[in-house]
Amino acid sequence: MNEARISVSRLCAGYGDRLCVADVSLDLRRGEILCLAGESGCGKTTLLRALLAAPDTRWFSGEFTLDGTDLSALTEKARRDLCRGKLGVVFQTPEAAFNPIRSYRRQFMETLKSHGRYAPKAFDRQVAEAFEKVALSNWRRVLDECPYALSGGMNQRVALALAMLLGQDILLCDEPTSALDATIQLSVAGELKQLRDVNGVAQIIVTHNLALAGFLADRIGVMYAGQLVEIGRAGDVLHSPCHPYTQSLIAAIPTLEGAMPAGLPGSPPLSGPEREGCAFRDRCPRAKADCARRAYALKQVGVDHFAACAAGKGIGP
Ligand SMILES: Nc1ncnc2c1ncn2[C@@H]1O[C@H](COP(=O)(O)OP(=O)(O)OP(=O)(O)O)[C@@H](O)[C@H]1O
Ligand SMILES: [Mg+2]
Repeated sequence: MNEARISVSRLCAGYGDRLCVADVSLDLRRGEILCLAGESGCGKTTLLRALLAAPDTRWFSGEFTLDGTDLSALTEKARRDLCRGKLGVVFQTPEAAFNPIRSYRRQFMETLKSHGRYAPKAFDRQVAEAFEKVALSNWRRVLDECPYALSGGMNQRVALALAMLLGQDILLCDEPTSALDATIQLSVAGELKQLRDVNGVAQIIVTHNLALAGFLADRIGVMYAGQLVEIGRAGDVLHSPCHPYTQSLIAAIPTLEGAMPAGLPGSPPLSGPEREGCAFRDRCPRAKADCARRAYALKQVGVDHFAACAAGKGIGP
């Protein structure tokens, strides 16, 4: 029962003429949590927006199958309608996805109605339950507020509560806990796990927090400069990373001891994804001359573990 809910093959996407995500191939399997990590600007949000067929995002090429339906064969509108029906979403800046000066009560009712999920008699009870799950107390006050009047962390949890109420069984979350303190983050993460374990909701969760990814994820994918450079079971990626970039990312996690972690000097190429040569080569401690010429490709480096370079394990590059 491990067939993919989402299957993306060599997806290239961006905005206007600008390519921001290149050659990304990945699956979201039934009932799994796949966490995506990577440096700011590496294309995580663009990838999610491309999967949602967001109007501002352009697909240049690639294939995308959703529950067995090939979306590349559909018109843009049909694709957007299908994605909207099947994919729940929590955006990176949830308040931007709502009208800032309209009460959450009205926006919840409208959204639930448009998805055929509005039940007037059960509405208050359902909202109260969903808010409780995301650790929002005083649900009635929050529901009657407008997004502008709530903190970033509260808006983030409201957006997650709405996604839960919509009940789609694939959820794309873009940094859903980034504005939350550690204790609330943990309880929200626990609910995301529950969604997977109890309701079978498959999830792609973008996060900069690798400790959170270790707690939540079945698999972790790491992106660099618009490409997926490593993907595998969470324990393997975190404890036995292959790509030198994944190793640098893990080495940069701060610890409570207060010692400054090893940083990663330099920055990703400004020009966006590189179609020839390794985009990480200028920052890579293991780069060799032919890294400028090597074609990008994920290779199998272990059981269910793939990386575009295994130099971090002393193999290759
Ligand atoms: N609406 C847009 N129009 C044009 N370029 C954009 C747009 N949004 C993002 N970009 C560019 O696309 C690239 C990828 O950005 P994206 O937001 O996907 O990165 P990210 O990995 O989500 O970063 P972060 O961790 O900071 O959220 C960046 O170079 C960014 O400048
Ligand atoms: Mg982002």
